[in-house]
Amino acid sequence: MSHIGSYENRIKDFNWSLSEQELGYKAGDKINIGWYCSDRICKLGKAGKKALIWEDFQGNVKEYTYDDIRVLSNTIADYLQKRGIQTGQRVCLFMDRIPELYIGFIGVLKMGGIVQPLFSAFREESLFTRLNNAETTAIITQKKLLPTIRKIRDQLPALQHIIVVDAGDAPLKEREVPMNMEGMPRVEQFDVFSSTAETPSVLHYTSGTTGQPKGAQHVHYSLISQYLTSKWVLDLQDNDIYWCNADPGWVTGTSYGIIGPWSNGITQAVLDSGFNADRWYSFIEKHRITNWYSAPTAIRLLMKEGTELVRKHDLSCLRHLSSVGEPLNAEAVIWSQEAFGKPFHDTYWQTETGCIVVSNYPGMPVKPGSMGKPFPGITATVLDMKTYEPINDVGKVGLIALRPGWPSMIRCYWNNPEGYKNKFKNGWYLTGDRSSIDKEGYFWFVGRDDDVINTGGHLVGPFEIESALLEHPAVAESAAVAKPDKVNMEVVKAFVALKPGYDVNEDLELEIMNFIRKRLSPLAMPQEIEFVKSLPKTRSGKIMRRVLRAQEFGEPIGDISTLEND
Ligand code: WTA
Repeated sequence: MSHIGSYENRIKDFNWSLSEQELGYKAGDKINIGWYCSDRICKLGKAGKKALIWEDFQGNVKEYTYDDIRVLSNTIADYLQKRGIQTGQRVCLFMDRIPELYIGFIGVLKMGGIVQPLFSAFREESLFTRLNNAETTAIITQKKLLPTIRKIRDQLPALQHIIVVDAGDAPLKEREVPMNMEGMPRVEQFDVFSSTAETPSVLHYTSGTTGQPKGAQHVHYSLISQYLTSKWVLDLQDNDIYWCNADPGWVTGTSYGIIGPWSNGITQAVLDSGFNADRWYSFIEKHRITNWYSAPTAIRLLMKEGTELVRKHDLSCLRHLSSVGEPLNAEAVIWSQEAFGKPFHDTYWQTETGCIVVSNYPGMPVKPGSMGKPFPGITATVLDMKTYEPINDVGKVGLIALRPGWPSMIRCYWNNPEGYKNKFKNGWYLTGDRSSIDKEGYFWFVGRDDDVINTGGHLVGPFEIESALLEHPAVAESAAVAKPDKVNMEVVKAFVALKPGYDVNEDLELEIMNFIRKRLSPLAMPQEIEFVKSLPKTRSGKIMRRVLRAQEFGEPIGDISTLEND
């Protein structure tokens, strides 16, 4: 049993007020995540403790104490305020995993802005869709990403400030301004914005089946869930050196790559570099990482390299391992036991939930292949697919649903009340995933209940890809679906019908693939294009992606009569 007590004891009379008490928060108080992640930790006597150990691609290391985070985030907050950026305005962070991204996140929250992190691999169209929907006022970015922003800035009237963290002597255009975090005069004291529980904090864009990505809007009160789940599920302890693999462009990289560890006063390490097994193990060894939050795709890549490579490193520092984002297959859990002497603990949640909702809690026996049990304070069940009533039969597959009301649940989709309303049935929040529950209450993930593609733990919406495909002069109609992949679990495959006058050939396939990569991102790029004469449709003309997907996975197509009549 772990130091935090048994699962059964924890759920018995759990109340979120426990987290409030630990954080010294009372209903009606001010609550600002930026302050909780920096000033408060300094006040608790940890000003000199390392908050961030950052390493770049070449192995250069920079370290920041909690006092550095406090002062540098003040400096950024003050800079934004002096530029005239108002509370409630959206400030996008569009950067690689550099220190300015992490500290900028805290800075935006401290001045009362709504922080909108976007993955730096997004290209012009993906970026445009999200900045346009959020009517973003400012974007903090790197010089190398300016060409992408310059292509779209004139169509974004709300975007008044393009703030470049590494401008140096580079010539800047109108509305582009430099911000040298380490070079500016440091602001020791800053009047942190008096946000309260329901003040908007973070806006993360996530994909659904229909329409363009939706802005999942969180509030400062989310801290109550993120703080406690980091402590109890990820098992963060005071002496930990914690490493979260996720990029803050995605929710894991903010909830558990910034807010969770820093509100707990933990030292975290960041590696701003892509995947390389040897490099990753060296990073763990060098910084004595004790607590690691990773993802199944990364674990599968490590498995491919074998245990011999693991043995070349001293990884005895690792104490607790967790995983999120995709189904963690039983083999990966068993392999990690063999390779590291401990299992990866699966955790399940979503952008919309803001915090882990089902997990393998430390101290609970891990059933390899299962996602574990609901976090105390989370009521989770599976619903019948037709009646939306809870299923009482053990092992029967249904829709994973949660009883609304936990602190970090999103409060709306930005400018999309209809989309938000559709997420609820009979008083339950529908995750859009399917699972069964065994007799001991463990959840077993089955799959998504929509057409969203989960590639390497990143969600990609078919509509966004299909819209971009239609902009190619040769494409008459298309459907983007998931295709199975050994490492990424799923990749994008596009079915394309060409306009008259265009011939199928390999050059065209490559051209279309690149077209998507350059407009959207490498993630959204189809790995395969199948040219077809026409696409299967319902009688009302809707493309039946489900039929194409089933074909890719070799699954039975099932009853399509309802689809045909749609
Ligand atoms: C999937 C990421 C199986 C699921 C935190 C969910 C998982 C979506 C798991 C959310 C898991 C996440 N096992 N599937 N442990 N964790 N998923 O919004 O389909 O980027 O709905 O949030 O990823 O992805 P999102």
